[in-house]
Amino acid sequence: MRVLVVGSGGREHALCWKIAASPQLKKLWCAPGNPGISDVAECVDIDVMDIPTLVAFAQDNQVDLVFPGPEAPLVAGITDAMTEAGIACCGPSKAAAQLEGSKTFTKELCDAANIPTARWERFEEPEAAKEFVRRRGAPIVVKADGLAAGKGVVVAATVHEAIVAIDNILRDGAFGAAGDAIVIEECLIGEEVSLFALCDGEVALPFGSAQDHKRIGEGDTGPNTGGMGAYSPVPVFKPELEQVAMDRIVRPALAEMARRGTPFRGILFAGLMLTAEGPKLIEFNARFGDPECQVLLGKLRSDLLPALQAACDGELGHFDLRWHDGARIAVVMAARGYPEAPERGSIIRGLDRAAAVPGVQVFHAGTAADADGTIRAAGGRVLTICASGADLAGARAAAYRAVDAIDWPEGSCRRDIGYRALA
Ligand code: AMP
Ligand code: GLY
Repeated sequence: MRVLVVGSGGREHALCWKIAASPQLKKLWCAPGNPGISDVAECVDIDVMDIPTLVAFAQDNQVDLVFPGPEAPLVAGITDAMTEAGIACCGPSKAAAQLEGSKTFTKELCDAANIPTARWERFEEPEAAKEFVRRRGAPIVVKADGLAAGKGVVVAATVHEAIVAIDNILRDGAFGAAGDAIVIEECLIGEEVSLFALCDGEVALPFGSAQDHKRIGEGDTGPNTGGMGAYSPVPVFKPELEQVAMDRIVRPALAEMARRGTPFRGILFAGLMLTAEGPKLIEFNARFGDPECQVLLGKLRSDLLPALQAACDGELGHFDLRWHDGARIAVVMAARGYPEAPERGSIIRGLDRAAAVPGVQVFHAGTAADADGTIRAAGGRVLTICASGADLAGARAAAYRAVDAIDWPEGSCRRDIGYRALA
């Protein structure tokens, strides 16, 4: 197969690494990719949002399968455009990607399909929203309706904080059109877990679960980020709970999407809160998580490529995935200043030494290479250091041994990834 992966992060490096190991692969491209990805795929300099150029590239190069990593091109309709051009694309259509693109859409779908989630209300007027918050009290959650790069959610501990968030989004337009409306929700209490399913429009195949650490600081403190680390398995998310989440959340959502004539194909990511009343949906995403993807693909024993093909063909009903035992962890190394204003340009050394630690993979996210091969930081989240082991403690020790082998004074990471499972 001739395959094109779209994206440039650690998630896409892990995807290319796994796809490159497939005996079915003939040729792999990644657009735009990064210096680490260029070890396993040919990088082509096309922006993820330049859909016409991506389609033309896929046509000119007889690409058999496209896999978009990030949400933005999915929400913008890359799957529709590829499909129209006769190219299989393993991702949701623009209509189905609304599960990530609009909080209101997802909340209405939850109500229609009786999916457990936080009680909610939608507002376009700041005064009405504030009145609602004053009536309900804190803690309460305020969310921009549209895509806001993971920054559009405020879990407000006080009414004042919620009111500031309402003004910020609705009155001051902090997120542009993504904040033309807000959703205000009940605050759910419990452990968070990310559950993934590969979907073919009708069938959802469990694709594993992981716990992400979204906050920048150790002990889960400070501002939210794209994710500072993840691990799997998650001890509190017992197989029975995963079954409940598949049956009450993922499968009803898939059935409702199919019933509406907008079936969901690709990776469905359910962000869950494990509450005292059972798993509840926080949000859906229409793609793999980053860094959850780097964790899960290292646990996948089966060849990924035929599974993605089967999802495109609507054949997952005849499919089975096999997984490695043991645990896996991902530690994100970020540039100084992340998430507000990451510094770019610092030199990173010792990556080969880190990758030589047994059980470890080093995935690039925001890196750039000089002409002589020198690697520099070129983004907020710069590297994902992954390790597999017999158990989480072993995987974690290997991951931090690899981190310590990297010579990058301007970079940092959380030292406590996985602590909730090890406590
Ligand atoms: P989201 O972008 O929807 O994933 O939200 C970002 C983070 O905000 C989540 O990972 C949760 O930690 C938190 N969050 C979102 N909605 C709720 C909720 N209803 N109750 C508690 N925490 C929430
Ligand atoms: N790590 C969370 C996300 O990818 O949305």
